[in-house]
Amino acid sequence: MQNILEELERRRQSARQGGGERRIAAQHAKGKLTARERIEVLLDERSFEETDMFVEHRCVDFGMADQKVPGDGVVTGHGTINGRLVYVFSKDFTVFGGSLSGAHASKIVKLQKMALQNGAPIIGLFDAGGARIQEGVESLAGYADIFLQNVLASGVVPQISVIMGPCAGGDVYSPAMTDFIFMVKDTGYMYVTGPEVVRTVTNEVVTHDELGGARVHAQKSGVADGAFDNDLEALTQIRRLIDFLPGSNRDRPPVRESYDHPDRDEPSLDTLVPSNPNKPYDMKELILKVVDEADFFEVSPEFAKNIVTGFGRLDGQPVGVVANQPLALAGVLDIDSSRKAARFVRFCDAFNIPLLTFVDVPGFMPGTKQEYGGLIKHGAKLLFAYAEATVPKITVITRKAYGGAYDVMSSKHLRGDVNYAWPTAEIAVMGAKGAVEIIFRAEAKSDPEALAAREAEYKERFANPFVAAQRGYIDDVIMPHGTRRRVIRALRTLKNKQLHNPWKKHDNIPL
Ligand code: HXC
Repeated sequence: MQNILEELERRRQSARQGGGERRIAAQHAKGKLTARERIEVLLDERSFEETDMFVEHRCVDFGMADQKVPGDGVVTGHGTINGRLVYVFSKDFTVFGGSLSGAHASKIVKLQKMALQNGAPIIGLFDAGGARIQEGVESLAGYADIFLQNVLASGVVPQISVIMGPCAGGDVYSPAMTDFIFMVKDTGYMYVTGPEVVRTVTNEVVTHDELGGARVHAQKSGVADGAFDNDLEALTQIRRLIDFLPGSNRDRPPVRESYDHPDRDEPSLDTLVPSNPNKPYDMKELILKVVDEADFFEVSPEFAKNIVTGFGRLDGQPVGVVANQPLALAGVLDIDSSRKAARFVRFCDAFNIPLLTFVDVPGFMPGTKQEYGGLIKHGAKLLFAYAEATVPKITVITRKAYGGAYDVMSSKHLRGDVNYAWPTAEIAVMGAKGAVEIIFRAEAKSDPEALAAREAEYKERFANPFVAAQRGYIDDVIMPHGTRRRVIRALRTLKNKQLHNPWKKHDNIPL
């Protein structure tokens, strides 16, 4: 009997060694943790239950029959983050470069099915060289099996990907279908085809980092939702994110006891908006002063900075915050900011997370670059996302709400539940100067002084929240210092909100 027990322990020990000491040392030398070390950091202490530790590949070509490593390059299982269940798979670069075989794929698919069935998030840690070259089509089939499960799980359980090493070829499309992608700077990179192929096909010479490094995807392409300095920081931040999310679309997001008084006034907000309408201010200051304990997990902070998206809590209840940022491009809506916010709104709606929207938007970005890039379709994504969302929606207009952007930003007309404005709000078709130059064009040429009077008249008439409030499009004009209290009260009234869209197979959001 003792022998049998020892044999199990010997087998486990061998599996835990992955690709062996030399490769583990190489992994550490690159500043990366191993697949198992990453899981240790991500999950609560001693909560990890590994599954399929003894799975081996079935390939016999190219001498593979003699090269078997238990686990086959991916560590899978479940554990808890602050006591809540999550499923995890972690690619082991020390085993065949973490490449994907048929057996490796089956382990991930099994995990995806369990996460979906049991209503828990799934977190994938990527560090891999793509399809297992020795396996050919078996590997391609494995990828497709994973992609299918990604799609079936989309909107049912949160799916999070963390790119901590190479992530190329087949490996990029699974993360691309998950809800969030985070990357580790300097070690993580992702692209469909690597620098070698790029050089052969296009003659372009680029490094791994220039082609698909964390900065590229977190700032330029928007593929990644955040970039972190190292493995430890990335994993710790994922723990933070999970705390805001429900296990599945069948649950409500987790409420946490708050030590921040719901009635807390914030007098400094009364002077946040400058008297000069063209002067910017930091919308993040408002967010941090309103949410519980100034705890805000920002999503995509480096991409499309003209809109801020992220998670916070109000009265202990998670909310998704969307806010125009006057500090960047005056908070205008353009292609990137519309795409970024639309995806965030849809995530919140899918997972029962109420939306809090702060509005200060001068309109949509004009110009050929935007129009040729399809601003009409991209802007429509945000409009569509807000309109279809049935979660509680609370909106606060702090300053400008001009033109179509007024409609888009969770207006009453798109089923905003509670819409507030600060006294500094200006709700109009456009700014006063632009407006009078159009409607009094002839006068503008002949009598500039009269035009100034017209501008003042327009401002007087429209640069305020009261016209909208008279029509009931704004429920109340509120004092900036009382924003937290008013928003929390509104949120409480919406706790049992019920709203359903007409039955459909699925919608046809402008992609
Ligand atoms: C099998 C692989 C492998 C792969 C790496 N290895 N990639 N084994 N299949 N795809 C093995 C190496 O042989 C090596 O084994 C170990 O992993 C580490 O690899 P190195 O090259 O030494 O590491 P490094 O220098 O850090 O380079 C990492 C890398 C490079 C950039 C990822 O290995 C690489 O370019 N790999 C191939 C990437 C690729 O073209 N994949 C196929 C993509 S096509 P030893 O024994 O020496 O430790 C694809 C199609 C799917 O994925 C499409 C589905 C839709």
